[in-house]
Amino acid sequence: MKTKTLILFYVILLFTILNKAEAQSKISQSNPGPYILACGASSDAKDSDGRTWRSDSKFLSSSKDAITATAQYQDPSLPSAVPYMTARIFTSQSTYNISVPKNNRLLLRLHFYPSIYSNLNPNDSYFGVIANEFTLLKNFSASITARALTQAYIVREFSLSPSQSGNLNVTIFPSSQQNGSYAFVNGIEVFTMPDIFLPAALVGFSDQTVDVGSSCLQTMTRLNVGGQYISAINDSGGLDRTWYDDTPYLFGAASGVTSQADKDVKIQYSNDVTESIAPLNVYRTARSMGPNGTVNKNYNLTWVFQVDANFTYVVRFHFCEFQLDKLNQRVFDIFVNNQTAQPSADVIAWAGSPGVPVYKDYAVYVSDQPDYDEELWVAMHPSASMKPEYYDAILNGLEIFKLNDTEGNLAGLNPTPSVMPTGAEKTKEFSTSRSSNSAHVIGGIAGGAAGCVIAFVVIIVITRKKKNFNRSKSGSCSGNWLPIYGSSHTSTSKSTISGRSSAGSHLSSLAGGLCRHFSLGEIKYGSKNFDESRVIGVGGFGKVYKGVIDGGTKVAIKRSNPSSEQGVNEFETEIEMLSKLRHKHLVSLIGFCEEQGEMILVYDYMANGTLREHLYRGDKPCLSWKKRLEICIGAAKGLHYLHTGAKYTIIHRDVKTTNILLDENWEAKVSDFGLSKTGPNLNQTHVSTMVKGSFGYLDPEYFRRQQLTEKSDVYSFGVVLFEVLCARPALNPSLPKEQVSLADWALSCLRKGELGEIIDPRLEGQINPECLEKFSETAEKCLADHGIERPSMGDVLWNLEFALQLQENPDQAANFVAVEKPDHAAAHLQMLRIIDEDNVLGEEETDDSSSGVVFSQMVNQRGR
Ligand SMILES: *[C@@H]1O[C@H](CO)[C@@H](O)[C@H](O)[C@H]1NC(C)=O
Ligand SMILES: *[C@@H]1O[C@H](CO)[C@@H](O)[C@H](O)[C@H]1NC(C)=O
Ligand SMILES: *[C@@H]1O[C@H](CO)[C@@H](O)[C@H](O)[C@H]1NC(C)=O
Repeated sequence: MKTKTLILFYVILLFTILNKAEAQSKISQSNPGPYILACGASSDAKDSDGRTWRSDSKFLSSSKDAITATAQYQDPSLPSAVPYMTARIFTSQSTYNISVPKNNRLLLRLHFYPSIYSNLNPNDSYFGVIANEFTLLKNFSASITARALTQAYIVREFSLSPSQSGNLNVTIFPSSQQNGSYAFVNGIEVFTMPDIFLPAALVGFSDQTVDVGSSCLQTMTRLNVGGQYISAINDSGGLDRTWYDDTPYLFGAASGVTSQADKDVKIQYSNDVTESIAPLNVYRTARSMGPNGTVNKNYNLTWVFQVDANFTYVVRFHFCEFQLDKLNQRVFDIFVNNQTAQPSADVIAWAGSPGVPVYKDYAVYVSDQPDYDEELWVAMHPSASMKPEYYDAILNGLEIFKLNDTEGNLAGLNPTPSVMPTGAEKTKEFSTSRSSNSAHVIGGIAGGAAGCVIAFVVIIVITRKKKNFNRSKSGSCSGNWLPIYGSSHTSTSKSTISGRSSAGSHLSSLAGGLCRHFSLGEIKYGSKNFDESRVIGVGGFGKVYKGVIDGGTKVAIKRSNPSSEQGVNEFETEIEMLSKLRHKHLVSLIGFCEEQGEMILVYDYMANGTLREHLYRGDKPCLSWKKRLEICIGAAKGLHYLHTGAKYTIIHRDVKTTNILLDENWEAKVSDFGLSKTGPNLNQTHVSTMVKGSFGYLDPEYFRRQQLTEKSDVYSFGVVLFEVLCARPALNPSLPKEQVSLADWALSCLRKGELGEIIDPRLEGQINPECLEKFSETAEKCLADHGIERPSMGDVLWNLEFALQLQENPDQAANFVAVEKPDHAAAHLQMLRIIDEDNVLGEEETDDSSSGVVFSQMVNQRGR
């Protein structure tokens, strides 16, 4: 009896203990804290941000085929040795088993650094990853992906829908599609997160929503729009998310202005929006369209992202109005992939008051259509129909998530690698900072006429300047422009700095900050290793190649001729100048590469090539007279901006039809500033003795006096005007002597009243006689013997605009004169107005009052 009681007692005791243990394990499960695991590491270690990474071994359920390894090479662009320098390698399927709270959304981050581990070739690694029931990766090659993105390492982030089991199983297995493949992983992070996904409106179907809550999401992009990089440790939402600068994704030249909430503005979370949605820093900065409503009405503020086809995406827009406080002040439409996602968005109306963050989600399906090129477009435009007080739009943050398909799959295809850059392993580091991501563009430069070139520039570095280029000092330069897409990026600046320094030049940090520094690997990859089939222009400086960067953006890559020793100055002048100059009628410099003796400039790609090839020596369709006039006007605006719009007067020095390029909309853009030099404000003695420029366009006064002024450009432009009218080269040695030089011949014909005989016969009947008179009179004035007699570029521009009026509306042109024909000062103002409208970017800093009014106003608005 006694024994029985005793047994009962023990049984009860045991029960109590067990119960307690279970209760305790429940408590610890309800808040297991984040798991931050360095795979293959034997002990805990801190990364460069001070976050502790634990060893992964005790989470691995069967580790018989899992080995630990250390990478042989530490890429300088790795943000930290932890967790990337150690890896867990799998030759058969293995599972991480991590206990997590039930019914809770989870954030899972996987880190991959494709490198040589234990003599395994990273190119042999193809693998899959499954988390609970979702396929995250399939036949994935970290090596190919990293190469395509020119990144050293890849981070993939997923948000897993809540599961009823208290377990997260992450299974990693070598791909069965490739023989002898192995799998690896360097880091795993697991966080519990609030369920921050509600059904999202399906774009294009006003009555449909997509149920996001039950799906697994992959983060494609996470941007602090108009603001700076926010690192994992600065994500106050507790999820260690990284937020990137949006600049690299902006499409086109018109990128609006950025602003930051004043210190005394309070940003206040609401019940709906808390730090787990986005940290305050995201809401404190914004990008808007700019101060000029008229300009804003004519463009879309647009971002473009690379995505995988055949998936649904949720685009999350974060807003917070901190500049305005009333309804209907700033109302705009939001477009996603050419469809209206949201008409008449009014942030104040949504949030109730200023300083309150809101976000909106829109879902869109991206199908596999040839014209979309696996891109996702986001655009904003003022909602004119609402007659808001300001024609403007605003955005503070943007996230794009991919949703699993109906089979629970999130994996896309590996990017298609083209030619592998030689030495790829060593050149994967890359750059930071700004890139103007205009997906179109061009860059045909030079071409023909090589014989006419005197000392056309160029290039090469023998003396490599190994001066350290301290990127941490140049704010925007340390930025992390890369997307989370596929990805990861160069993360915190520290290690990037050291990675870059050997390739650095002594360019001012300003230029370095405004334009992107490419690695030679990226350039070789983008131009298929300088494949001859990609050459789009040749000149004394070397060749221009058509190329691709960031997986799809077309660019023109200008590679200086390695046999020339001249040109370091020109190279750097061009970078310095172009990176500071942004104008609708100037070709934008995207970045540069100065490595292993190469000097390479990367420009926007101009789809329609040079003006010359559309005038003669090409089989292109004939340009109409009106189009030609518009192109001349565009080029004149670009030159006028160079002469008066920037801080210093900039003299182009090589104005000619091959340096006037045409984008896909036939807008003219002036290119090639390698020969440019600034005007009287700067010391010019060191170049004035060298004659540069192209025969046929050269200012005779420049020959006589070796003195360069902006009027030398005006002379060359006069030659361009006749070239456009007559469709013949500036110099044609095969003609009778008096006809060789177009400038001389056109002037003599004009003076004899015989101009009509040398006009491009294809224009017959198209030109209004008054227009022709104005046009030829303008060209003649440009060709005056003495600079002082030539008009300014502003006057030339005004006269060309007038000629266009005469062509289009001869009757009303009289009014144009009466109303606008200005005295000199008024003409200048008129010009400024024209520039104002064109210079949507207004990046040029200026402290020069003469023409700076417009620009400084814009600069202040940026308020960075
Ligand atoms: C998308 O789906 C279509 C039709 O099922 C298929 O032909 C195409 O290859 C898929 N594209 C991608 C990138 O998976
Ligand atoms: C802005 O984008 C929308 C949608 O793609 C398009 O319909 C509209 O024409 C664009 N507006 C401008 C000014 O480019
Ligand atoms: C994602 O997977 C879940 C679970 O399998 C499913 O309920 C959901 O519909 C899927 N999402 C989409 C967009 O197909």
